[in-house]
Amino acid sequence: MKRFLAMMLAGTMCLSMAACAKPADSGTGDSGAAGGEGGEKKTVGVCIYKFDDAFMTTYRNALQSMLEEKGYEVSVVDGNNDQAKQTEQINTFITQGVDALIINPVMTSAADTIISAVKDADIPTVLINREPTAEQMAAYDKLVYVGCDAAQSGTFQGELILDTENKGDINGDGKVSYIMIQGDPENIDAKLRTEYSVKALTDAGMEVEQLDLQRGDWDRNKGQEIAQNDLAKFGDQIEVVFCNNDDMAIGALQAIQAANRTVNKDIYLVGVDALDAALNEVVAGNMTGTVLNDAQGQATQAVASMEELLGGKTFAEGEQSVYVDYVKVTPENAKDYIK
Ligand code: BGC
Repeated sequence: MKRFLAMMLAGTMCLSMAACAKPADSGTGDSGAAGGEGGEKKTVGVCIYKFDDAFMTTYRNALQSMLEEKGYEVSVVDGNNDQAKQTEQINTFITQGVDALIINPVMTSAADTIISAVKDADIPTVLINREPTAEQMAAYDKLVYVGCDAAQSGTFQGELILDTENKGDINGDGKVSYIMIQGDPENIDAKLRTEYSVKALTDAGMEVEQLDLQRGDWDRNKGQEIAQNDLAKFGDQIEVVFCNNDDMAIGALQAIQAANRTVNKDIYLVGVDALDAALNEVVAGNMTGTVLNDAQGQATQAVASMEELLGGKTFAEGEQSVYVDYVKVTPENAKDYIK
């Protein structure tokens, strides 16, 4: 723990000062849970897949302040969307002997490598946001995944369209013509949102037509570009723009407005996350709706699971995933979620 602190102060791992932990003596709140023997603080390494992600920024800020308030010594590092770099960061935390790790993997496909590294080092670990399979997690019983059921968010997106006056069939031709702006398809959230948003429509008996599906990698600029190209190519045929997250939906909205289209009149637009920027657009009628991806709730659960692991609890296969509910967000309830 002293070594961890010394290295941190030497700046060897703090990629951004803003992301670093406060000095050991500045903790507030309940340090009982976090205090080690002799009053030393417990150390937590937090690995985020990349800092430049709108949703993960809210999530990591919530995590950091919760952990600090509980009196943990926290170091949060940026994987820069580079799995090799993140693996190195995990190894550095292991060498420093952190008490626990919270990891948002860059690649779900790296889960086996990550799990075997933390298992060999016997470090209690909570994986967040990018879900490995139950079999992968079963390799280590001091490992928990905290996230959401991505299928649910997709279903809610489809329901938001079904709740409109024409169920998404604006031109009345008997089918809902849509474009899908996908996150990183390696990620299960992207896969399931893509599948279940459309499934909600077909389950309700609607015919659907996919005009285009493109990966936007969760990124606002890519969302804008994809929507701009599709609007130029398909014009009025596009009735619904499904975006796997809000940041891409906000980008798509810029393209929709530039093409002189009007959301909720001649086109529908839905996202996921309930970022403040998206909530404001929902209230203003510029987005049909979104789905709350509860960063605060997931951070709370990640810390609670970490504390269970620190308390010595182990988890059997099938009990290692904890899901926080999504919430459907419409103009009626959007204001309630603005932070
Ligand atoms: C969020 C996205 C975010 C991604 C990162 C998803 O759950 O909806 O906004 O980019 O997680 O993995």
